Amino acid sequence: MDPRPIGVFDSGVGGLTVLHECLVTMPNEDFVYLGDHARLPYGPRPLEEIRRFAHEIGGYLATSGVKLIVVACNAATSAALPELQATLPVPVVGVITPEASAAVRATRNRRIGLLATQATVTAGRYETLVRTLDAGVRFTAVPCPKLVPLIEAGEQTVEAVQEYAAPLKAAGCDTVILGCTHYPMIRPVLQRVFGRDITLVFSAEETAREVADTLARKGWENDRNREGTYRFLTTGDPDVFRALGERFLQLPLSDVAQVAVTELERAAA
Ligand code: DGL
Repeated sequence: MDPRPIGVFDSGVGGLTVLHECLVTMPNEDFVYLGDHARLPYGPRPLEEIRRFAHEIGGYLATSGVKLIVVACNAATSAALPELQATLPVPVVGVITPEASAAVRATRNRRIGLLATQATVTAGRYETLVRTLDAGVRFTAVPCPKLVPLIEAGEQTVEAVQEYAAPLKAAGCDTVILGCTHYPMIRPVLQRVFGRDITLVFSAEETAREVADTLARKGWENDRNREGTYRFLTTGDPDVFRALGERFLQLPLSDVAQVAVTELERAAA
C-alpha cells in the first residue's frame, strides 16, 4: 500500500479531462493537478521550450513526493515523454500512444485525421505511431492554434472548429484523433460539426487504465477502502482556474493554490 498522491499536469484545464478518467478508475487515490496557466498556450512554442517546462513541472512534482506523474498534455508528451521517463525518479505516463492505436482500430477506410496544437503536429509522434501500426494509412494533420485559447477563455468555438474540420472532411477521414486534452471539453461542438459517421478518438480512459496497471504492478495502490482527495495548483490565477475547472469537472475545487513559475524553475535546476 502506498499513500503518496499521483501528480497530473497540463498547460491549463485540458488535463482535467484525463484527471476525470483517473478519478473514475482510481477513486481511492489522492491526486495533485498542476495547470501551467502563466505559460499557456504551449502549442505555439518551440518543442525545446515545452520540453524545458515539462522538466520543471516533472521535477517539482517528483520533489513534492508524488508516486507517479501523468503528462496530461499532448504537446508536453510529444516534446518530452521519453526524456521525462529517463530522468525522473518516478514512473511517467503520457497520452498519444493509446489514441494512435485506437484510431487504427477504428478506421474503416484507413484515412485518419488529427486535430492538435502546432507543437503536437510538428513533433509528428501520432503519424509515426499510426504508420508503425499500419503503413498504408492516409494521415492528415491539422494544427488548431485558436482552440486552446478559446476554450480557456470559455468562448464559442464553432467557427474555429468548422475551419479546422474542413480539410479533414475534404480528405475523407472517417476517424479523427482529438490530439489535445482540451478538445474533449468541446466534444458536442466537434461531434455536431463532423456528424455521426466520423469517429472521434480520445483515450483518457486508456491513460487512466495504464496508470492503474502501473500502480498494481508495483504494489503501489492506496487503500481500496478509502475515498481519495484532490488538490490543484496553478501558475496563474487560482480563482479563474477554480471557476473554469468546476464547470468542466462538475466538482467543487475547494483546494486551489498558486505556485510561482520561479519555484518550478528551481525544481529543475
Ligand atoms: N492540453 C494541451 C495539449 O494537450 C494544450 C497545449 C497548449 O497549451 O497549447 O496539447
